[in-house]
Amino acid sequence: MKGVLICGGIGSRLKPLTEITNKSLLPVYDRPLIHHPLDVLRAAGITEIAVITGNEHMDQIAAYLGSGSKFGCAFAFKVQERAGGIAQALGLAQEFVDGDDVCAILGDNVYFDDLAPAIRSFKKGGHVFLKKVPDPERFGVAQMREGKILSIEEKPKKPKSDLAVTGCYVYDHRCFEVIRTMKPSARGELEITDVSRWYLERGELTATILKDEWIDAGTFESLHRAAVVVRERKDKRDR
Ligand code: G1P
Repeated sequence: MKGVLICGGIGSRLKPLTEITNKSLLPVYDRPLIHHPLDVLRAAGITEIAVITGNEHMDQIAAYLGSGSKFGCAFAFKVQERAGGIAQALGLAQEFVDGDDVCAILGDNVYFDDLAPAIRSFKKGGHVFLKKVPDPERFGVAQMREGKILSIEEKPKKPKSDLAVTGCYVYDHRCFEVIRTMKPSARGELEITDVSRWYLERGELTATILKDEWIDAGTFESLHRAAVVVRERKDKRDR
């Protein structure tokens, strides 16, 4: 399985922190944010990773990550010229993934669960990670019954459940054909939720419900919360 680390977006909700610096290089207590999604891929044994970011920040992302040797990985870097959505960013990695399965993860998502067992045991179709949240309308939302996903919607005004679809997606190679035929949504983006829905409609989308905390660190509040939780966990381990 190959990895795709998506560090797109202009981080508008974090300005002025993101004026010069890419969101995923901002500090989360003792390490830049990007280490968190990178650790998820590494823990799952994924070492070949395409890193996708916009023109503005590619220099600093590449300078920080380097070849990957210091992380025991090999990185390839791809520029997303225009902010066209997560699915478009993933599509840029098609050649790199080269027919393999892929785990795509967003550069601002912080997980405290161990995702590795689900990623490692992936066989076919699509797999997503869901988390119960108080504000589902901010995210992709999945409705579940008896362990099966019934529906998946991107930022619905009236969410059918409180299960957010978090920013880690495991797909087989067919996702790239799906992305090639996709049309932009009302916000002008190729939506990752539409890729997951393609698998859902074929009965091939499965999910893990996360038990521990999950943070999309795209706002001041959530970035700060991530730092607080990382510090708490570290203190507990060091004790
Ligand atoms: C994106 C996805 C959304 C998902 C979220 C997780 O939203 O479109 O489905 O729930 O990431 O972080 P964005 O952060 O681009 O608004």
